[in-house]
Amino acid sequence: MIIAIDGPSGAGKSTVAKAAAKQLGFNCLDTGAMYRAVAWYALEHGLSLDDEPALGEVARVKEISFGHVAGDPTPRRVFIDGTEVTDAIRTAQVDRAVSSVSAHPSVREALVDQQRRIGNAGDYVVEGRDIGTVVFPQASVKVFLTASDEERAMRRVRQNERRGVGSVDFDEVLADLRRRDEADSSRAASPLVAAEDAVKLDSTGYTADEIIERIVSLAKEAR
Ligand code: C5P
Repeated sequence: MIIAIDGPSGAGKSTVAKAAAKQLGFNCLDTGAMYRAVAWYALEHGLSLDDEPALGEVARVKEISFGHVAGDPTPRRVFIDGTEVTDAIRTAQVDRAVSSVSAHPSVREALVDQQRRIGNAGDYVVEGRDIGTVVFPQASVKVFLTASDEERAMRRVRQNERRGVGSVDFDEVLADLRRRDEADSSRAASPLVAAEDAVKLDSTGYTADEIIERIVSLAKEAR
């Protein structure tokens, strides 16, 4: 069974996806981390963000995998080509680069293949931008999660503070979210758009627990 959670940056997808997965006994897949890992690899190896053939090759050939911290059922650690990039993919440089990388159709094709392979192996809550529209259009539950720009930026600042990585400047974070939303929504390949059959949830003014509860009950109804 697949629960798809899509929406713009900072809408709270990761938090609610991980918690809902835990309550349902499902696995959880963060597809944004995969695009971030490819962007990190490109920056690290001096690849041009416009070099679609090279970036597509990275997405096809370099293995992206997830790992656990001891005692935590959610796979929070991210690796590409054997290197751990859990924190390195959350920097402001990767924030700035990732939308260019994810706009390339060959990168998307390679990562979507991997996402389907992973998701088809069990029960998954999968979060991203195109999960309900492209990756798993047959998902049992589709949620499109949004929140106001300011609330999303504030949450991202707090998350960056907690993690000790990424920008903690509200205006800078807000500008980055808006720039990425615009790039992700206007790209030709799999733009960020709600699936017609998605349940649209605006989390502005709601606690994470309220949103998680709603998603868990949608999943139980669909079972
Ligand atoms: O979710 P997160 O903010 O980590 O995603 C980082 C970027 O990866 C997004 O801004 C978007 O460009 C890309 N992405 C995507 N498709 C997905 C998940 C993420 O294009 N399914």
